Amino acid sequence: MNDVIYECVVTSVSPDGQPHVAPMGVRYRQGAAGEPGTVVLMPFVPSTTLANIVAVRHAVLNIVLDTRVFAGCVTGRKAWPALPAERVPGVRLQAALSHIELRLESMSDEPQRPVLQMARVHEVQHAPLGGFFGFNRAQSAVIEGAVLVSRLHMLPPEKVSTEMAYLQIAIDKTAGPEEHEAWGWLQDAVAHHRAAQKSTKAAP
Ligand SMILES: Cc1cc2nc3c(=O)[nH]c(=O)nc-3n(C[C@H](O)[C@H](O)[C@H](O)COP(=O)(O)O)c2cc1C
Repeated sequence: MNDVIYECVVTSVSPDGQPHVAPMGVRYRQGAAGEPGTVVLMPFVPSTTLANIVAVRHAVLNIVLDTRVFAGCVTGRKAWPALPAERVPGVRLQAALSHIELRLESMSDEPQRPVLQMARVHEVQHAPLGGFFGFNRAQSAVIEGAVLVSRLHMLPPEKVSTEMAYLQIAIDKTAGPEEHEAWGWLQDAVAHHRAAQKSTKAAP
C-alpha cells in the first residue's frame, strides 16, 4: 500500500534570511513511544526549498486551508504574509491553521529527489476549533489544478484540458470566493502557457 501523502506548504529561508514558500506533499512518520516522530519531505533537484534546507538545516511545515497559497505559488504569487518561526530560523505563514517547526535529521542521496527526514522541533495550533469544517470539493480541485500547472512543461496539452474540464465541475458546484480566485489564476496560467507554446511554434 502507498504512503498517505498530505499536501502542505513548506517555508524555508536562505542563509541570508530570504524566505521561500513552496507547496509540497509530505509524509508523517510516527516516533517511538513518547517521541514526536518525523516529517518526510521530497523536494526535487534543483529547488530553492532543497538548497535552503541543506544550507540552514531547518524549515517550517504550514498546514493551510486557503488554496490560494497553493495556486498562487505555482503561478508566481509567492509573497504570502508570514511571521517569524518561534524556535528555528525561518518563518511560518500567517494563514497556517497550524505549523510544525522542523530540523533536518538526515538526507538520502537520490540524485533527482532526495528524501529528507525532518525532526519535529515545535508545533503550534493557530485556528480555533481546528479550522477544518469538512471536505470541500473545490479546494481539492484547486490542489489538483495546481499540481497540473506545476507540471505544464511536461504534460500533454490534451491531458491538461481534460482534467481541468473535470475539475471545473467541482469549482462550479462548490467553490467559495477564495477557490474561485485561485482557479482563475490557474486558468490564466494554462492560457499563458498555451499562448507561449503557439508563438514558439509559429516563429520561423
Ligand atoms: C500540491 C503540490 C504538491 C507539490 N509537491 C511537491 C513535492 O513533494 N516536491 C517538490 O519538489 N515539489 C512539489 N511541488 C512543486 C513545488 O511546489 C515547486 O513548484 C517546485 O518544487 C519548485 O520548488 P522551489 O520553489 O523550492 O524552487 C508541489 C506542488 C503542488 C501544487
